[in-house]
Amino acid sequence: MQYYFKENFMWGAACSGPQTEGSKGKEAESIWEYDCTRQADKYFDGVGNITASNFYRDYETYIQNMKKVGIRSYRTSIQWSRIMNDRDGSINREGVQFYHQVIDCLLKYGIEPMICLFHFDTPMFWMEKGGFENRDITDAFADYAEFCFREYGDKIHYWSTFNEPVVVAEQGYLYQVHYPEVCDMKRAAQVAFHIQLASAKVIKRFRDMEMSGEIGIILNLTPTYVPENACAEDVEAGERANLLFNRCFLDPSVKGYYPEKLTALAREDGFLPEYQEQDIQIIRENTVDYLGVNYYSPRRVRRRSTPWEEKKLMPEKYFETYTFDGMKMNPYRGWEIYEEALYDIAINIRDHYGNIKWYVSENGMGVEDEERFRDDHGQIQDDYRIAFIKEHLRCLHRGIAEGSNCFGYHLWAAFDNWSWRNAYKNRYGLISVDLKNDCAQSIKKSGEWFLELSANNGFEDL
Ligand code: FCB
Repeated sequence: MQYYFKENFMWGAACSGPQTEGSKGKEAESIWEYDCTRQADKYFDGVGNITASNFYRDYETYIQNMKKVGIRSYRTSIQWSRIMNDRDGSINREGVQFYHQVIDCLLKYGIEPMICLFHFDTPMFWMEKGGFENRDITDAFADYAEFCFREYGDKIHYWSTFNEPVVVAEQGYLYQVHYPEVCDMKRAAQVAFHIQLASAKVIKRFRDMEMSGEIGIILNLTPTYVPENACAEDVEAGERANLLFNRCFLDPSVKGYYPEKLTALAREDGFLPEYQEQDIQIIRENTVDYLGVNYYSPRRVRRRSTPWEEKKLMPEKYFETYTFDGMKMNPYRGWEIYEEALYDIAINIRDHYGNIKWYVSENGMGVEDEERFRDDHGQIQDDYRIAFIKEHLRCLHRGIAEGSNCFGYHLWAAFDNWSWRNAYKNRYGLISVDLKNDCAQSIKKSGEWFLELSANNGFEDL
């Protein structure tokens, strides 16, 4: 079978500022630098992001290697806390210059930079004031975005406002996995709402400034499945999971309004965030030009069969997740691999979201202890990653053939990088990074394969 993609399909890879750069040259901290220096024991092997993959120092060699593995577009993020030093918006010139250098270097090597303005990295100067719980941050974020548009606007076509906003609410304010480790549905909902509002305000500035590029948002979609022999309550549980984790950002970002069922649920269960009438209008009038979709794993849900414990973890009340026979697990990390979901995403966007233009902004396979796959010539033989990418591309190809408007595929990640509290436990890159050897880089087998993939604009299966 042949899986070739349309002309100008964007073959790329992603990373983010806080996961790669290290803290050198920064004047302000994000929650990550703050947290990892105070609670190192919560990070795998005690490794924080102070050095990360040292992209700050080595960006040119990383970009050279990206070129070697056929990456044509590089999706990364600018760190607010590198650009600005405080809530008054005083500028860190060195930080501003750094991103100019990175963008210029990417362009020099013929790689298209795609820039996201926020990747989980709330600056501490806002966290001290409640972070995204504080309504004022929405205007401050728009000011920061406007600064970036003015500074880099003539070099960037593809912008996005936030990466995986639901993760900020979920992991930071519900499941206590990210700083500030809160567990409160109402506060999580407030954070989610303010992020949506901030995103719309940024889009408004973008339009008012008559920027020439396009602006989107990056959402991690977790297609939700219920058991084959589902009863009505299972279906209901699945619908709620979909509302809470997917549609809460997808609908307002693309359509400009929240699903009625979600607002009704929030009202009934007491987690409706505070808002002003004008917010609803700003959200309605400022939807995205395109969508970035991060996809890793589906969400398998059924009705609760065990009593719900009265904690504040509201989603737990509605459903439980389950495993089922025949589930294909990533043997090296523990996430389910279900490539068909990418086809389902493509069709869902086609049928329910106006067939908006979208691209895969992240998809990838994390592998623990990947060093065990390094051969005698020093190359990581990651055939499993090649197989993973192919499986997903087959499904994506089918979705596109059936009319879904997808314009690119970005692997997570271009190179091994720091994954939050998991630090460097799971490796994702096409390029490996040796932390014990001053971040020495080497190209994995998947990197060589990716070069062919992007050069041929697809692949053929025997
Ligand atoms: C995604 C994040 C990304 C990375 C991958 C493994 O949820 O967007 O930063 O950590 O997971």
